Amino acid sequence: MANNGDRRSAAWFGATGRAGMAYRSWMRSQGFTPEVFDGRPVIGIATTWSELAPCNAHLHRVAESVKRGVWQAGGFPLEFPAMALGETLLRPTAMLYRNLLAMEAEELFRANPLDGVVLLSGCDKTTPGLLMAAASVDLPAIMVTGGPKLNGKYQGTDVGSGTAVWRWEEDMVAGRMTQEECFFAEACMSRSDGHCMTMGTASTMASVAEALGMQLPYSAAWPAVDARRYETAQRAGQVIVDLVNSDLTPSAIMTRAAFENAIRVNAAIGGSTNAVIHLLAIAGRLGVPLSLDDFDTLAADVPTLVNLQPSGQYLMEDFCYAGGLPAVMRELGGLLHGGAVTVTGRTVAENVAEAPCWNRDVIYPMDAPFQPPGTGTAVLRGNLAPDGAVIKQSAASPHLLKHRGRALVFDSPEAYHAVVADEDLDADEDTVLVIRYCGPRGYPGMPEVSNVPLPKKLLNRGVRDMVRICDGRMSGTAYGTVVLHVTPEAAAGGALALVRTGDWITLDVPSRALTLEVSDEELARRRAQWTAPPPAASRGWTRLYTDHVLQADSGADLDFLVGASGHEVPRDSH
Ligand code: FES
Repeated sequence: MANNGDRRSAAWFGATGRAGMAYRSWMRSQGFTPEVFDGRPVIGIATTWSELAPCNAHLHRVAESVKRGVWQAGGFPLEFPAMALGETLLRPTAMLYRNLLAMEAEELFRANPLDGVVLLSGCDKTTPGLLMAAASVDLPAIMVTGGPKLNGKYQGTDVGSGTAVWRWEEDMVAGRMTQEECFFAEACMSRSDGHCMTMGTASTMASVAEALGMQLPYSAAWPAVDARRYETAQRAGQVIVDLVNSDLTPSAIMTRAAFENAIRVNAAIGGSTNAVIHLLAIAGRLGVPLSLDDFDTLAADVPTLVNLQPSGQYLMEDFCYAGGLPAVMRELGGLLHGGAVTVTGRTVAENVAEAPCWNRDVIYPMDAPFQPPGTGTAVLRGNLAPDGAVIKQSAASPHLLKHRGRALVFDSPEAYHAVVADEDLDADEDTVLVIRYCGPRGYPGMPEVSNVPLPKKLLNRGVRDMVRICDGRMSGTAYGTVVLHVTPEAAAGGALALVRTGDWITLDVPSRALTLEVSDEELARRRAQWTAPPPAASRGWTRLYTDHVLQADSGADLDFLVGASGHEVPRDSH
């Protein structure tokens, strides 16, 4: 049997004696011919397929296309499951399990006879979770996201997943939509395979993966049901074999320059604030220095070019037909590090040099952008968020970006929801809603609850937005003037825990300030009276998570998962 002894997999399938026989024999129970053990690259296809993760439910078919490509290029593809995280079903929140997926996938990549991995993701947390794992193990890797759903169609208009839900919820509260209409509308919104088709977190992270250089150009935008999604998957199967042969690893692709590109692309596409946390976590695995402030300073001169919901009008299908991410990256030109290398083996500049734009109402040019520079994610600081907080300016109401109001404080989103319909709720349009104990440790898992709906009585009066402040996250499909990721979180003893109803709070986004107008002496008095909430769990994953999760400004990874582990297996019991 010919064998390439340099390959990692050769330690298994090229072995002689009892151990080698066991490695090969058990694999042959699947009907593989012996040529698969001839030293060709063994390619793992990590799929987050699950019927419980509906955005990823088609990934087993995408995997078949990847396998075709791997076989074509002379590799040996082996598909295996990694934890599927369905954003809509998992309780208390899928984010609680992102690090568990990352940890599971990291161990699987290392423990198995793999020379390279293809990462199949879709729904929000599966993309960063697999990238974190790939970063830590640093085997050659390529990502294939599952693609967005087709545009939702309801009553003659396009409706975006997630974004429409928030609007319909307000319509139902205000009596503008019946439950029967809701049943009908929900099917119109989700009418094909794929992840959310707004520029929510899934589309953002797919775009970010492409901007980082970890998936093929155009990959982010092909709709899940488009034949070119499957063509791209097959191409990725060919490319991963090249990556193994050239030993081009994630650490050589996801450099500081690549992260800077991703941050700027995220600003240009009006991407989700969740990208901030995920990119910080991925960078932490690689040892790439990246800070929360980078997201503000690097995005400051980047205009929003993409007119997609929730910041704009269109949806991912339109974005695809308009030219997709390469058209945006070409437009950004010198704002990107064109020399950054990608999974194609070529540079960013080479990948996008000829990228056309077919619709300037979807992808705007740099000289006449959709929104001017500085309308992306802003990082706020002040005595209420000494370690930072973020706000997505493009999804906020311009008139609320400078605002002073009295706090109305709730210790959980549930406590607020219990009174949201009260006619006598002491709130007006100037009130600042404070929702706390929603951070990584507090809820736990830092759920997407920050954009709580407005009080019913204000909705009925036509109020459409209010300032909300929270240590949790917001869905990438959501909108509103919402200050997120307040750090330190309330459960960690942050100043957010000390706010009382009636306190004045000033939000000044142009000055990047978030101020609780309470003296240091009074805050010290309140702190002395504060007691930390009891742990959310006494055992299991949630206990491990809450004991070790980092704050949002560090990407909310677990402290012991930061950094690389490599792909060496320390011991072998065979
Ligand atoms: Fe899966 Fe939105 S719920 S991507």
